[in-house]
Amino acid sequence: MPNHKHFLVANWKMAMTTHQALDFMKTFSIQEIADSRTQVIIAPSFVTLPVLHQWITQHSISIALCGQNSSAMQSGAYTGEVSAAMLKETGCEYVIIGHSERRILFGEVEPDLSKKVDLVFQAGLTPIFCFGESREIYESGKTNDFLRKQLAPYSSKLPFILAYEPIWSIGTGFIPTHDDLARTADFIRSLFPDTSLLYGGSVNIGNIDDLLQHTTMNGFLVGGASLKPDVFYSLYLTMNQR
Ligand code: PGA
Repeated sequence: MPNHKHFLVANWKMAMTTHQALDFMKTFSIQEIADSRTQVIIAPSFVTLPVLHQWITQHSISIALCGQNSSAMQSGAYTGEVSAAMLKETGCEYVIIGHSERRILFGEVEPDLSKKVDLVFQAGLTPIFCFGESREIYESGKTNDFLRKQLAPYSSKLPFILAYEPIWSIGTGFIPTHDDLARTADFIRSLFPDTSLLYGGSVNIGNIDDLLQHTTMNGFLVGGASLKPDVFYSLYLTMNQR
């Protein structure tokens, strides 16, 4: 895994067509990213990956590509699935695994998530593994117990990138208090000391500076605020100034 201090990951979900993605790149892909200490990572839809890879290579820009998901199967008769090896070939370096939308809307559970992570490693890619609690668990004070269970299958698989994303924070505008985030980060680092830890959930230009000042996260996984190049660029600049 590249040794960057910070990661800024754009999770575009199902929001951008290839056309729109290219328009985004024309505005966003400034050369100075090349010398940055912040690794910018973009996770577009599968079908957009090859075109973005070509764009990034042609313009020699230091943006890494990421799949939003990959299959728990290696290869074979699995209609509609995309393997980690296929993502590698399209120029991906990272793959998001276990996003709460995949878990909640598409029923992704263990042991499939562990299999996915294994196959991502096998393909020579780095997993960005998402985990996080529901509002109910947060309010009942059982976050750490829940996270410990969610991460238990991964203790022998690390180091890779962990992205703490409380479900109640994704797309809602709510984020945990600094104290809660600091406590959760300390707890996760006590379990996985060598792992880069990202925070995701309603990160935007109004709160990123605060998050950088008051937490020890190694970066952010950004949904909504990653869709506009000027907004995403502001997030990048704020991170890079630190
Ligand atoms: P959000 O999404 O930034 O829109 O809250 C984050 C995510 O789902 O990874």
